[in-house]
Amino acid sequence: MVKASKALDRVLVLEMVRVTEAAAIAASTLVGRGDEKAADAAAVEAMRAAFNELEFDGTVVIGEGERDEAPMLFIGEKVGTGRGPKIDIALDPLEGTTITAKNGPNALAVLAIAEEGGLLNAPDVYMDKLAIGPGYAQDLVSLDKTPTQNVTALAAAKGVEPSEIIACVLDRPRHEKLIAELRALGCGIMLIPDGDVAGVIAVTDPDTTIDIYLGSGGAPEGVLAAAALACVGGHFQGRLLFRNDDERARAAKWGVTDLDRIYQLSDLVRGDAIFAATGVTDGSLLSGVKRKKGGVMTTESVVMRASSGTVRWVKGEHHKTA
Ligand code: FBP
Repeated sequence: MVKASKALDRVLVLEMVRVTEAAAIAASTLVGRGDEKAADAAAVEAMRAAFNELEFDGTVVIGEGERDEAPMLFIGEKVGTGRGPKIDIALDPLEGTTITAKNGPNALAVLAIAEEGGLLNAPDVYMDKLAIGPGYAQDLVSLDKTPTQNVTALAAAKGVEPSEIIACVLDRPRHEKLIAELRALGCGIMLIPDGDVAGVIAVTDPDTTIDIYLGSGGAPEGVLAAAALACVGGHFQGRLLFRNDDERARAAKWGVTDLDRIYQLSDLVRGDAIFAATGVTDGSLLSGVKRKKGGVMTTESVVMRASSGTVRWVKGEHHKTA
């Protein structure tokens, strides 16, 4: 267990839920409307407004993009009143823009906060990800090993056959070889259309039946998922993937010198951290926003803290105000 941070005052734990709730409610008005950009913009605006109500000196370290490409919640943007503790923020106001546009599963409004310098400032490139749930040896699986070696080791530690292991993988052509390797082992594969933050977190919940997460997705989403695992346990490794010189140049700008480095959970999230998420659409982690008679909206959120391991599930009932 890591040491509790004074800067991450207890009050902030619950305040973070207000922030993700606001983003989720805003995005929910656009669920199934086929407009990814509008859904994202609504979530961004609501999350930013909610942050700016809070008494803290926040800096977005993982956000909507670099200053010249994102009008709001860009990397480096200051949020909050500017008074109070200095906090670094990783955020994704709408994780799963396509899911939201199509009304698919697992769209979330999500964020993680830590003391200044506590979150890896990951460039917006792909990250190769590997995650398993808690209760296994630290070095059981590794990105240095093949998927076959990892699944075989995990199966032995779990006391099952490799063919009984369930893997979660993003459904992408780039994962064709990985999927073929897992199929050759006889594994069950949950192919997800999008939303690997929920996909990675799913390894920590036996009810999802997912044993291992494998494959590449966004690096920012990797840091967000790692923050959740820092709170609830589980193992995560990430390796940044650079596809061209432009991406390699971006790595240098971010101070990444070892392009092949395997990041352990403790490299991605250092010290105390808070992770919060609210469901936009129904999913394995959370239920989505529901609109009831009389304009009442319900939300489901989770907020967790690394230093205590406390996990709070928060059901919200929101009434329209005039
Ligand atoms: P967006 O919310 O930005 O659309 O991200 C959804 C997502 O599926 C992430 O969960 C994942 O990390 C990433 O996209 C994968 O990227 P790609 O769609 O390029 O494979």
